[in-house]
Amino acid sequence: MLVVGGAGYIGSHTCLTLANRGYKPVVFDNLSNGHSEFVRWGPLEKGDIRDRERLDAVIATYKPDAILHFAAMIEVGESVKDPALFYDNNVIGTLTLLAAVLSAGIDAFVFSSTCATYGLPKQSPMDETHEQRPINPYGRTKWIVEQVLQDYDSYKGLRSVILRYFNAAGADLAGHIGEWHSPETHAIPLAIDAALGRRTGFTLFGNDYETRDGTCVRDYVHVLDLADAHVRAVDYLLSGGKSTQLNLGTGTGTTVRELVSAISTVSGKPFPIEHAERRYGDSTSLVANSELALSILGWQPKYNLHDIIRSAWQWHSSRNHG
Ligand SMILES: NC(=O)c1ccc[n+]([C@@H]2O[C@H](COP(=O)([O-])OP(=O)(O)OC[C@H]3O[C@@H](n4cnc5c(N)ncnc54)[C@H](O)[C@@H]3O)[C@@H](O)[C@H]2O)c1
Repeated sequence: MLVVGGAGYIGSHTCLTLANRGYKPVVFDNLSNGHSEFVRWGPLEKGDIRDRERLDAVIATYKPDAILHFAAMIEVGESVKDPALFYDNNVIGTLTLLAAVLSAGIDAFVFSSTCATYGLPKQSPMDETHEQRPINPYGRTKWIVEQVLQDYDSYKGLRSVILRYFNAAGADLAGHIGEWHSPETHAIPLAIDAALGRRTGFTLFGNDYETRDGTCVRDYVHVLDLADAHVRAVDYLLSGGKSTQLNLGTGTGTTVRELVSAISTVSGKPFPIEHAERRYGDSTSLVANSELALSILGWQPKYNLHDIIRSAWQWHSSRNHG
């Protein structure tokens, strides 16, 4: 399996799960936001998805049966500041990767997409028929690639599974790998850092949303459950499954205030919370209906919020990555 972006958070957990299920993951990553320490279950081939020659060489060496594509710039705020960087990396990079994949005759492709392709929710939970109107450049880059994949299925015979994750969270239970983004913008690592005294506190954006406690609702799904869905998607494509798009979430909404209070409880370390204005572009509620993933891949999340926080706490508190 060629795991593109496999030195990052979700890609590395997927390599762990692929290896546990008997696959050999080869990581292709430019390490712009990945970590060579996370590549433990197969070789690391350093390279950029915009470098066609390097892609061709790596694909010719390993002859992968399928591609799992995680590589992207992911920070929404950065995408608003510099959309060109995101279009270049996420769209042009993916087109270059797809050209290499097609010319090598590979026809099985798993793509990391996101609930950010839906934009503002018209109903909750959201299923895959929800309209897609992304509200920031990051979400739009992912949505563009989704449409490219649909055309490549129709006209080039490339079968793909598009996985739309909700909020990825948690860490490997053995504590070898975990969530490590720079800059970190995800709520769980930020709150844990506050509990560990590595930040002065946690900033909660907006407390006047129409939710049970006024804060936004999100659907946190364990990264190992996401990894499991990827391996199922590979099995599905290799046994002839046709292209599909699937939500991956738990169907359970958690408010930011509930999340923060669960982190204080698990860590045993309360921390200061600062209230700030709503952030532009934050949806009130993003919760997945993942019934299609159950019916097509037999996928169901195994871990709950408590498991997510415990594993994240174990990872963050046992290391100091600055
Ligand atoms: N983290 C989440 O909650 C979440 C939610 C929805 C979707 N996603 C998607 O999942 C994927 C993985 O996210 P993550 O949280 O693991 O991010 P991450 O930043 O930890 O991993 C991305 C990896 O891709 C690599 N990369 C980026 N650009 C590259 C390029 N041009 N060439 C080669 N490698 C490159 C980075 O070095 C990094 O290792 C992304 O595509 C993201 O859009 C993430």
